[in-house]
Amino acid sequence: MGVDARTDRSESGGQRGVETMDGSSTRSVSESIALESRDFDVYYGEDQALRSIDMKIPEGEVTALIGPSGCGKSTFLRSINRMNDLIDVARIDGELYFNGKNVYDDDVDPIALRRRIGMVFQTPNPFPKSIRDNVAFGLRVQDKDEDVDEQVERALKRAALWDEVQDQLDSSGLDLSGGQQQRLCIARAIAPDPEVLLMDEPASALDPIATSKIEDLIEELAEEYTVVIVTHNMQQAARISDKTAVFLTGGELVEFDDTDKIFENPEHDRVEDYISGKFG
Ligand SMILES: Nc1ncnc2c1ncn2[C@@H]1O[C@H](COP(=O)(O)OP(=O)(O)O)[C@@H](O)[C@H]1O
Ligand SMILES: [Mg+2]
Repeated sequence: MGVDARTDRSESGGQRGVETMDGSSTRSVSESIALESRDFDVYYGEDQALRSIDMKIPEGEVTALIGPSGCGKSTFLRSINRMNDLIDVARIDGELYFNGKNVYDDDVDPIALRRRIGMVFQTPNPFPKSIRDNVAFGLRVQDKDEDVDEQVERALKRAALWDEVQDQLDSSGLDLSGGQQQRLCIARAIAPDPEVLLMDEPASALDPIATSKIEDLIEELAEEYTVVIVTHNMQQAARISDKTAVFLTGGELVEFDDTDKIFENPEHDRVEDYISGKFG
């Protein structure tokens, strides 16, 4: 698929920042960009859901997308691994780079792309199959199914579910609790060893204890993956993310910055109003 190829037009995949030669650096801000959108629009038929989104999502961090319902958070997330391709009326304009390659170029295979950019949805959606087969699914469809049991175990451990299910790998994924089902879906998403994990309100259908387990897990996952998470829960964004993007009604990205900055001292009054609960 050639997603690693650099292009002239994008900084994605490159290193930013400078270090002085003698190592006495005071301005070392080297940071790789995993994903970058440029002047990116999405339309559903005549309706524009996203307007000219410019965003650089750093590698190996948690980026939260927040904003009121209908502002385009899920649309943006789905654009990243071309899940919007599956919606007939959806159409995009602009560019979206993953490691420097525009994922909308003609030579990009969306199926291959989705192996490298996994996704977890709001409602846990295990297949009506055994726990083992759920996790192995992603491996089997890619012919990577040597040592399946080892890979299943590793994914379940990374998803913080192994201890709870190691004695029942042949029972149905649907027999697990909601929180366990969501961790199973996370295990399924990470089994093929993607680089990016997209999560659309992954805890919003769960109780507080299951939610806090998912939050802990996301922080751990960020040690290995770039995580982009949609949440309508601002406390959650503040707790788990490094960067926060605030979308507002009309499909605009109004502010994107370090999470601390967004929550403590945002640039825009509209963001301040949203964060402080004046609307949304
Ligand atoms: N499959 C779809 N077909 C048509 N319009 C859609 C579809 N999905 C979302 N939209 C519209 O796009 C806008 C953004 O929706 P969405 O991305 O789901 O927002 P959010 O996730 O922030 O709640 C909304 O106006 C919504 O009605
Ligand atoms: Mg949504």
